[in-house]
Amino acid sequence: MHESITERLIMKKLIIISLCSLFAGTALAAGNPCGKEQLTDSPTAMITRPANYKPAVGDAGLGKKLWMDTKLSTNGMSCNACHANHGAFQASFAKPYPHKVQMAQDRLGLKLVHLDEMIQGCMVMPMAAKPLPWDSKELAALVAYTQTLQKTFRPGTAMPGNPCAMKPANPCEMKAANPCARK
Ligand code: HEC
Repeated sequence: MHESITERLIMKKLIIISLCSLFAGTALAAGNPCGKEQLTDSPTAMITRPANYKPAVGDAGLGKKLWMDTKLSTNGMSCNACHANHGAFQASFAKPYPHKVQMAQDRLGLKLVHLDEMIQGCMVMPMAAKPLPWDSKELAALVAYTQTLQKTFRPGTAMPGNPCAMKPANPCEMKAANPCARK
């Protein structure tokens, strides 16, 4: 093997370039709140309450921990990443459930959603994860904690710095080139 110095340099450069693009790709995938969505079962079916579903009373303290927990998602997001300081919540959040949530209507065709269904919707869509088991203490806990947030929510008070509360730059609400759409 007799390589010239130039050849070796070119090889080195090539290796560095390909490594860089690999890392850039991974970083992009991890950072994209709408990426890596599950395309398996119908998401509408996955987030609709099973027949005879009876919501359990949940532990809001556990719910608060889960709200911050990125392990719930497959893309590094936590509920808090989008919803800190009431971010990404529209005026509908102030109304008693079930009610219309724009995202659930636009993307899943659901006219009305219960709170637990909407949490499952965020698990499946922005969190790119499986829905929580319907009878789990985790789902009940997230419901209990979200109810505490609902009490202090006033429409129009979402933090402007939140990427998902930005209009019209909200990546989850863009209509035409919506990266989250999966119809
Ligand atoms: C990538 C951002 C993102 C993440 C992460 C996220 N959500 Fe959402 N969430 C949204 C958006 C966008 C909406 C839709 C707002 C609308 O259309 O009114 C929404 C809606 C909701 C609603 C309904 C609000 C209403 O009007 O009734 C609830 C409840 C909710 N999310 C809970 C959660 C929970 C719990 C988690 C974590 C398991 C979570 N979200 C994770 C972006 C996110």
